[in-house]
Amino acid sequence: MPDSESPVFSRVDPETVRAILGGVIDPELRAPITDLGMVGEIKVDGSAVAVQIVLTTLGCPLRAQIKKEVVSKVASLPGVDGVTIDWIEMTAEQKAKTMDTARKRAQSDAPETEIPPTARVLAIASGKGGVGKSSITVNLAAALANRGLTVGVLDADIWGFSVPRMLGVSKRLGGTDGKIEPNELKVGDGLLKVVSMGFLVEDEGTALMWRGLLLTKALEQFLTDVRWGHLDYLLIDMPPGTGDVQMGLARLLPQAEMLVVTTPARAAQQVAVRVADMARRSNMKIAGVIENMSELVLADGQRIAVFGSGGGEALAARTEAPLIARIPLEPSVSAGGDNGKPVSLDGVGPAADAFRDLAALIVNELVPPLDMAGCTARILEAAAAAFNDRNRA
Ligand SMILES: Nc1ncnc2c1ncn2[C@@H]1O[C@H](COP(=O)(O)OP(=O)(O)OP(=O)(O)O)[C@@H](O)[C@H]1O
Ligand SMILES: [Mg+2]
Repeated sequence: MPDSESPVFSRVDPETVRAILGGVIDPELRAPITDLGMVGEIKVDGSAVAVQIVLTTLGCPLRAQIKKEVVSKVASLPGVDGVTIDWIEMTAEQKAKTMDTARKRAQSDAPETEIPPTARVLAIASGKGGVGKSSITVNLAAALANRGLTVGVLDADIWGFSVPRMLGVSKRLGGTDGKIEPNELKVGDGLLKVVSMGFLVEDEGTALMWRGLLLTKALEQFLTDVRWGHLDYLLIDMPPGTGDVQMGLARLLPQAEMLVVTTPARAAQQVAVRVADMARRSNMKIAGVIENMSELVLADGQRIAVFGSGGGEALAARTEAPLIARIPLEPSVSAGGDNGKPVSLDGVGPAADAFRDLAALIVNELVPPLDMAGCTARILEAAAAAFNDRNRA
């Protein structure tokens, strides 16, 4: 196998496993399970990984969810074929330490974002411009909202923003108490909450004046200064390339996962590998590969591979992430983008269907919404009760 075709990463070690588990967040304590002492021993035997998960209580209602999260993160690593979990219960001492860590983290300097820890965060990225990141972001967001979900859309393409036009929203962002309110858009039973530099500046020319502003700083502000409120999903339209923004994102939102977009062209795929590489370096899980501008389907059913073929499959093979959608090249997609009506809403045709299928796959299988029921709150209650008892005694 020539080097350029071989998987980018092939071996797995316990450190890599631990690092990717830093993306599993305890929703109540708002911290990665690795920081909370919930990840015990990690054993790697060839492609089989065994992880010890230390729970506050074995009867934790979150257990099934934690299992799913841990398995899906670890299984996403190249070179991993099987994942098993050994459950262990924390000792009283460990529990105390976990709570202490959580408390200290809450007081630390790391900027606390306004993104709820239960929100699923998907960054839509590619190594190359013009492959359809923004189109996919808005169509997927609209299709998810149309299923009754609350979906944040963060246009992180600070000076190349196109989300406002694609969603037909232009209202300037308002704010109260020093926080920015996102633009809200009702979609079916669901809701979109949209933030873009396009809502803060007059035009793209003015946006250029902000070039001095660090991209990562702008992303941080959008995550910390916007009153996002409840979110089931946050979709982030990433600027092309730029590793800094990805690194910043991984630091601010360790739960972020990446959807990598490529066209069927081999060249686009090769560029996208670099983004996937960067994701791995920042321990971000690649949730899937999306091939956009796949075949053009003519009225008579004839298919034309305008931009070649095989890019999606090649990228999936190289990153060992699943190919989760192939969006056809269709004028309805660009027309929908131009008039602010995502084709994934009421559109008919193979592209609209592909977006809706992708939303269904994400919700039902790939990255389902998180459940709030927790178990650590019980420790807090127990700790408070014990404290009160002691004070009474
Ligand atoms: N599946 C598709 N069928 C037809 N046109 C498409 C499709 N996907 C995207 N387009 C069109 O291609 C152009 C580029 O798409 P888009 O702006 O979404 O890409 P991008 O990756 O966000 O680009 P940039 O890097 O400039 O931000 C747009 O005009 C869009 O309408
Ligand atoms: Mg774009």
